[in-house]
Amino acid sequence: MNILLINSSPKRHQSCTYILAQTIIQQLSKQSTVEVIETDATKLPHLDSDYSTTLCSPGVMCDESVGSLSLSNQLISDLDKADLVIIASPMHNFSLPSGLKSWVDHVVRAGRTFKITSTGKQGLLNDKPVYVLVSSGGSFSGKDAYQPDFFTPYMTEVMATVGLNNIQFFTIEGTAANPEAVREQIEARQNQVKYHLENVLISQKRTVDASY
Ligand SMILES: Cc1cc2nc3c(=O)[nH]c(=O)nc-3n(C[C@H](O)[C@H](O)[C@H](O)COP(=O)(O)O)c2cc1C
Repeated sequence: MNILLINSSPKRHQSCTYILAQTIIQQLSKQSTVEVIETDATKLPHLDSDYSTTLCSPGVMCDESVGSLSLSNQLISDLDKADLVIIASPMHNFSLPSGLKSWVDHVVRAGRTFKITSTGKQGLLNDKPVYVLVSSGGSFSGKDAYQPDFFTPYMTEVMATVGLNNIQFFTIEGTAANPEAVREQIEARQNQVKYHLENVLISQKRTVDASY
């Protein structure tokens, strides 16, 4: 199984969503041989001029072997080859951190990962499970929510644009609280993730296998 892990926390391997991502990988490793490609989204650059020209001016061709076009080709290839995607991210200002937004801008590409039809944008990638692990200093969901959430609706919409509709969110909220409460929440999510992978993902796979 090829796993693509996008990590967009400036805390890198110390981030709580990265820890949760490792739980998913360990759990899947028990079921099959896994190969992980890890992208550090905090290191991704902004888009360059050739990329913008190619996307916005049909007919104009730019050199795809350099710059953002080359990086986009690589990131799309990684996404395409993956059997399962994990996105580990903090919430920044109610939304995506800029590194993750840069990854989105490199992979959501007209003519490559979606096409424009008379009824709207249509995804071109094969569907696959996408696990989005989000952490936030405060609460943005449930009864304790006190701030808007542009992260989860945006990720749902933008992944669907490229054909990825099988998206599952796991959140670790309120990390600004005391460390013990955060540890407990990470543990709770780890158990939730294990349960999900043992029950939901495997039963989905059985249904797919049985349909052949
Ligand atoms: C620039 C910046 C913006 C942030 N914006 C929010 C926010 O809008 N809402 C929130 O609840 N927490 C916000 N936080 C807090 C982080 O989401 C929180 O610390 C998170 O747990 C970090 O996750 P990580 O350990 O995966 O990096 C922000 C943090 C930073 C550095």
